[in-house]
Amino acid sequence: METLDKSEKYDLSFFDITGNCNLRCPFCINDWSAINGSTPVSERTFEKILTLLPLLNSFYLSCYFEPTIHPDFESILKMIPDEHRSKVLFTTNLSKPLSDGVIEQLSKSSFNYINVSLDSLNPAVFEKMRRGARFDVFYDNLRRLTDAFSGSPSAPPLRYITILNKHNIDEIPGLIENCANNYLSTMNELRTFVAMPHIDKGWIADNDITHGRRDKLWSTLSEMPHKWMYVDYDNKTEYDRFFDSLDGLRKKQVYFVPPFIGLRITSAGIVQLSHICIEPKFDINKMDDPYSVFKEILSLHSLDMDRAREIKSLHNEKQGIIKEKDTIIADKDTAIADRDTAIADRDTAICNLTNDKDTLTMEKHALISEKDNLTD
Ligand SMILES: C[S@@+](CC[C@H](N)C(=O)[O-])C[C@H]1O[C@@H](n2cnc3c(N)ncnc32)[C@H](O)[C@@H]1O
Ligand code: SF4
Repeated sequence: METLDKSEKYDLSFFDITGNCNLRCPFCINDWSAINGSTPVSERTFEKILTLLPLLNSFYLSCYFEPTIHPDFESILKMIPDEHRSKVLFTTNLSKPLSDGVIEQLSKSSFNYINVSLDSLNPAVFEKMRRGARFDVFYDNLRRLTDAFSGSPSAPPLRYITILNKHNIDEIPGLIENCANNYLSTMNELRTFVAMPHIDKGWIADNDITHGRRDKLWSTLSEMPHKWMYVDYDNKTEYDRFFDSLDGLRKKQVYFVPPFIGLRITSAGIVQLSHICIEPKFDINKMDDPYSVFKEILSLHSLDMDRAREIKSLHNEKQGIIKEKDTIIADKDTAIADRDTAIADRDTAICNLTNDKDTLTMEKHALISEKDNLTD
């Protein structure tokens, strides 16, 4: 098969080998009331999806759901070809008891990295955040996984994701240190949760933290030697806010600028293009040659990407011109106000001089009368 340049591939694919989860975390991005059942990827569908690997720079085995609940997780791991393993990554809650076979497969997987969700090492806080999980099960998995990884040269790096909230914020410096010293952490990612409309408002009120408290944490963490990063989903650019304000699908389609070119693939094998704001769905199961189909789509969409970048740059230019115009108007208004003040000052001065002159004239007339009286 031909070798493609990085720029000729999809940046990533958001794939999930399952469509469900063993937990129901109160902050979960998934609206579970709208998700029915579970469709673990079948071997046949997975084989088809794997044919796309040469077209991808990065391949999520799981991002929205929980991969370890796949009934054949170990076989799924074994199916991934060696030459593409370095682009594989996934996120797990590590809360389902893992078999020794799965741990062994992961420890020699040569994957890019694995994210472990870890909101607290305090069992009560952990179980409150990870509804349905048992801390002892999680901890047993973590200990066995890190033991196996520390003895394996082809074990993937481990990263930890923590959802910041009122109940774990005091624990964060200790948690980061603990992960680095005892659980092979190469990076701790701290996040605020995306307040999706389906998330219970009472829960949000009970868990939200102030910017002041967050800033205090940043100053503590800046003194620490460990690697960490903060992902702030609330931090929107001017363009994001402009895009959010657009109404109507048509306008959204015109102004949509994807942050990357990607595929969203469900465990049932339904593929969507995450980089365009229209929603065609492709069933990979019905394709004889998915590689050729998605390669063709990619080459067409590089033109869309150029158009999207151009539109964004025109929008930013327009914003720049509007700002400049506002500055000129503000400067002109200041100049007019200065001129009006100068005129008012001059009028006051003229008025004062006129008054002085009148007083002097009156005094002069009084003196003349006095003089005339004396002469008489
Ligand atoms: C959607 S989960 C799926 C993987 C797995 N079930 C887990 O929780 O680790 C992927 C990551 O997103 C985080 N997450 C879930 N809901 C979120 C939200 N509302 N805002 C930000 N991150 C969220 C989770 O904590 C986890 O680290
Ligand atoms: S473990 Fe992950 S997918 Fe499952 S409910 Fe929690 S955040 Fe959602």
